[in-house]
Amino acid sequence: MTFAINSPNLPNSLNLDNIRPQIKELQPNLVNWRRSIHKRPELGFKEEITAEFIAKKLREWSIPHQTGIAKTGIVALIEGGKPGKVQAIRADIDALPIQEANEVPYRSQHDGKMHACGHDGHTAIALGTAYYLAQNREELHGTVKIIFQPAEEGPGGAKPMIESGVLENPDVEQIIGLHLWNNLPLGTVGVRSGALMAASERFSLKIIGRGGHGAMPDQTVDSIVVASQIVSALQTIVSRNINPLDSAVVTIGEFHAGSSFNVIADSAFLSGTVRYFNPLLESIIPQRIESIISGICDSHGARYDLDYQQLYPATVNDPRMAELVRSVAEEVLETPMGVVPECQTMGGEDMSFFLQKIPGCYFFLGSANPEKGLAFPHHHPRFDFDETVLAMGVEIFVRCIEASGKNN
Ligand code: NI
Repeated sequence: MTFAINSPNLPNSLNLDNIRPQIKELQPNLVNWRRSIHKRPELGFKEEITAEFIAKKLREWSIPHQTGIAKTGIVALIEGGKPGKVQAIRADIDALPIQEANEVPYRSQHDGKMHACGHDGHTAIALGTAYYLAQNREELHGTVKIIFQPAEEGPGGAKPMIESGVLENPDVEQIIGLHLWNNLPLGTVGVRSGALMAASERFSLKIIGRGGHGAMPDQTVDSIVVASQIVSALQTIVSRNINPLDSAVVTIGEFHAGSSFNVIADSAFLSGTVRYFNPLLESIIPQRIESIISGICDSHGARYDLDYQQLYPATVNDPRMAELVRSVAEEVLETPMGVVPECQTMGGEDMSFFLQKIPGCYFFLGSANPEKGLAFPHHHPRFDFDETVLAMGVEIFVRCIEASGKNN
């Protein structure tokens, strides 16, 4: 396991001194909730047991909430006793189609499904935040919406939740979310102003040539030769069309063609993904991809069928909100070394849709602990994180809410 940021100066333990007693006391519950959710993972828009688990807790705590938003989403509403802003916390609740390989008492009981990205932890932290804020609502300035969002891993629950009006009535002014992050050790927070995560796009491509005898290439249009040239030429987009100071990725993940050693393949199938931070690349990259494909096909007499989908835009943090999270993290971690200021990943996130609508900040909460064997990467069948981070997540959320709840 390698850390994205591998500095000997980074702490690898959690300073719990700055977590208030009321939140510290929640820690055993946070672990229980996380494990209950972990045991019964559900895929996007099918999070029924998970949604019922969340709704049951909200009912127990008498927190008003709405269920069934964008199928399985939930929004809880906590109105403070004092005037102030309307803020939101967002947590994703879905799991992945992965068979869990961990031998732990709370391992997945759903065959082929697993919370391998930490969304079970996000849900527990959001529940803990809701509980704390509701318990202390008299002191709370303004209103807080806690958004439990389905299907982050795909096809995406943020957009339909926004379309259902979760940011309205009352209108949310700012939003915060976190991702537990095994690329960072326990006791760290990764945050930055601007793009934290990349835009995520996918495409599939069929090259249609003309098949024939492997010994008589002159009678054919060889789809494998055409597709191979396309794969090579696509590499020039990042190296030759994009400003070297911008980061981007064009990856071909699939290449299927042919059925026999002596037959020239009629068609070839490719698929790939595109990632970038700079929103200006949103149109440039797909245009370059298509013009390369079309030019090469043209020169060989092949045809093509391209399906290009822009899944999630880049996750871009508002400077003021990023500064809020940074200062709160520094306070809680009690060491500036714990805040990794220029943390970025080419991974994608549909938190981005919320951040396109209103100012907000998404950040990484370091959750790896190699000493306990808890450092497998996200989406790995043995992914797990150090649960001591859960109370830290609640403390950071609550402090951010408190620090910016008052109207200016
Ligand atoms: Ni995730």
